[in-house]
Amino acid sequence: MTDLDARAVAILRANDRGGYTVPTARLYPFQWNWDSAFAALGFATFDEPRAWRELQLLVEGQAPDGMLPHIVFRHDDADYFPGPAVWGTGRTPPASGISQPPVAASVVRWLLEAGDAAVAEPAARALYPALLAWHRWFHSARDPDAKGYVATTHPWESGRDNALDWDGAMAAVDPSGIAPYQRRDTGHVDPSMRPTQAEYDRYLKLVEFGRETGWNPERIYRESPLLVADPGLTFMLLRADRDLLAVARSLGLDEGQSELRAWIERANAGVRELWSDDVGGFVALDLRSGALAPALSSVAFLAWYAGLPPGPWAAPLRTNLERMLGAVSFGVPSLDPAHDAFDQRRYWRGPVWAVVNFMIGCGLAEQGEQVLAERVRSDTSRLIETAGFFEYFDPLTGAGCGGADFTWTAAMWLAWASPNRREVR
Ligand code: DGY
Repeated sequence: MTDLDARAVAILRANDRGGYTVPTARLYPFQWNWDSAFAALGFATFDEPRAWRELQLLVEGQAPDGMLPHIVFRHDDADYFPGPAVWGTGRTPPASGISQPPVAASVVRWLLEAGDAAVAEPAARALYPALLAWHRWFHSARDPDAKGYVATTHPWESGRDNALDWDGAMAAVDPSGIAPYQRRDTGHVDPSMRPTQAEYDRYLKLVEFGRETGWNPERIYRESPLLVADPGLTFMLLRADRDLLAVARSLGLDEGQSELRAWIERANAGVRELWSDDVGGFVALDLRSGALAPALSSVAFLAWYAGLPPGPWAAPLRTNLERMLGAVSFGVPSLDPAHDAFDQRRYWRGPVWAVVNFMIGCGLAEQGEQVLAERVRSDTSRLIETAGFFEYFDPLTGAGCGGADFTWTAAMWLAWASPNRREVR
């Protein structure tokens, strides 16, 4: 074990709150959905039962309609805003009213295939119904017209809070009338690395809107001031559907298999609507205005990870990936550096994120793009070796940004970026 491996293990242990892991102390003091799924991949490299425990506690937050919340609070904490009272979901354990990128089923497949069958099989079998119900929720609540792409109704649900993808839709959200509030995030992290105040006001307006509907998915889809089809959510769900189907097959579970096959087929076709010839890639589509986003975000490169059938999309997307990698010292930047809105340290408007790199890199490797896959993996290693286990990184200088001692960055080191990694597949 290298010093960095030991440090990564120590971060996961230190962020463990007794079966679930906080993304980092103070800035994010609860259980976050996709953070937890990636944390489980890290734990699996040295403590397999603890990896499963992470996922078991995550599904304890499941709503009656199948939605797996983006935050399971369990308690209140003055370090964070907005807490459980603002969400007002009235559930136990307290949880938020929106979801987050569905990567948990993919993690379950990795754990099942790599792990000790005596531990992994019963654990995966027990989680399967909750994951199937969650995917069903995504397909009905966020794609009720069966278009084959998933919409986000809140930037937080996409996991990419301040991405350029939501700019047009966010401009149309009128934040007037929101209850007075005090941000907590900017007390923990340099404000130049966080979303702006104008964005935060709109995030809260959208929370108030959801709460006023009683978190009614039908009303939210039809009436939310923000409704944007997201290539990130769509690709991660497509991948997770494939992985959940593989889990069902390997465990001999019949329930859900035909639904999963139908969702996969629908997404393979529907995601083509998110293609932009102008940009040469998959971009967000504002479902209220009909506008496609004007620039590439790194989630476009999850097309390989999603297992999208080969087609004319691959060559231009590959060219754009090579161009974007050529423009930075460390890939993959979350926004195209050629766009005016690129901001090398501001959260999802430029910085590199280890978990996105992991998914991009795995997808490229699986589809035979070994050179590009290795560039993405080795850039991630160099970032962590140089800067440490930060939340995200400046693609031009390699400086660490956001929170330090970050759970998912430590997990990605152990599972993928470390020279001693245990292959996740
Ligand atoms: C935050 O508070 O910054 C989170 O991204 C919302 O989940």
